[in-house]
Amino acid sequence: MPAGTRDLEFEFTTRDFSRVRDMIYQRAGIALGEQKQEMVYGRLSRRLRTLGFTRFSAYLDLLESQPGNDEWVSFTNALTTNLTSFFREAHHFPMLAEFLLTRQTPVNIWCAGSSSGEETWSIVMTACEAFDSLNPPITVLASDIDTQVLKTAEQGIYPVERVQKLAPDRLRRFFLKGSGSQEGFVRIRPVLQRMVRFHAINLLSESWPDFGVFDVIFCRNVMIYFDKNTQSKILTHFTRVMKPQALLFAGHSENFLNITSDFSLVGKTVYRLNGNRSSNAFAESGRL
Ligand SMILES: C[S@@+](CC[C@H](N)C(=O)[O-])C[C@H]1O[C@@H](n2cnc3c(N)ncnc32)[C@H](O)[C@@H]1O
Repeated sequence: MPAGTRDLEFEFTTRDFSRVRDMIYQRAGIALGEQKQEMVYGRLSRRLRTLGFTRFSAYLDLLESQPGNDEWVSFTNALTTNLTSFFREAHHFPMLAEFLLTRQTPVNIWCAGSSSGEETWSIVMTACEAFDSLNPPITVLASDIDTQVLKTAEQGIYPVERVQKLAPDRLRRFFLKGSGSQEGFVRIRPVLQRMVRFHAINLLSESWPDFGVFDVIFCRNVMIYFDKNTQSKILTHFTRVMKPQALLFAGHSENFLNITSDFSLVGKTVYRLNGNRSSNAFAESGRL
């Protein structure tokens, strides 16, 4: 930037930046690089303006003194990166389709770090095509730490530009076209919304809500924001909620082979849980 040398609306020092980095790391596991100072200023100034602060230090003091304050949600939402698109990293979807047909139904899928929902709806569309039905035997959990994007995911309403690259038959089959006040928007068909539950989940949390065990986890382009230690903890946590031989789909630049031996690489950034690792296969039995 560098801090303090520009005529900024809000006072933002190197120390403030360093505090923000610590706080978002503790809260969400997000390891913000040193070069992100300008981004942080841009994203958080809106919060300061809304709350009437003139200095970052005062805003950060408020957060630190009140760990339960709702402002933590807005702080976190402001610092996540939500880039996504329909059928992003398209090579994963034919593999998903094939895999779905090999599993006992219903097939349980978790889209962890779903952002605004394009990935979740791509999974649902893939399942509809695989089972040739608008009511395929799947359940989907879509989660994100960012409550704002999760709302968009749940609504399933997108500007038409977001779906421009989708094949016309997919558009017709899976979306409704807006008119009047909704002109220029499309909406995912309500029949598809029935198979998805949306829930805010922080992957960093020690305990996740119990949604059962999954055949498939999509966690793409999320781990890239975490350091190796956090990635390792989350991967171990994933193994506890995966069925035997379940698949984990990762993002194009995410490689877990040097972090864990619980998974084998079975496709381009697709990992299969090794052996019978699901701890859910065992329950407390008292005395044996
Ligand atoms: C770049 S987007 C990826 C979206 C989608 N998975 C894709 O590949 O297109 C990363 C998402 O991870 C979410 N995220 C970041 N930290 C998280 C955490 N600790 N727990 C859950 N989600 C997190 C962000 O809010 C963001 O929506």
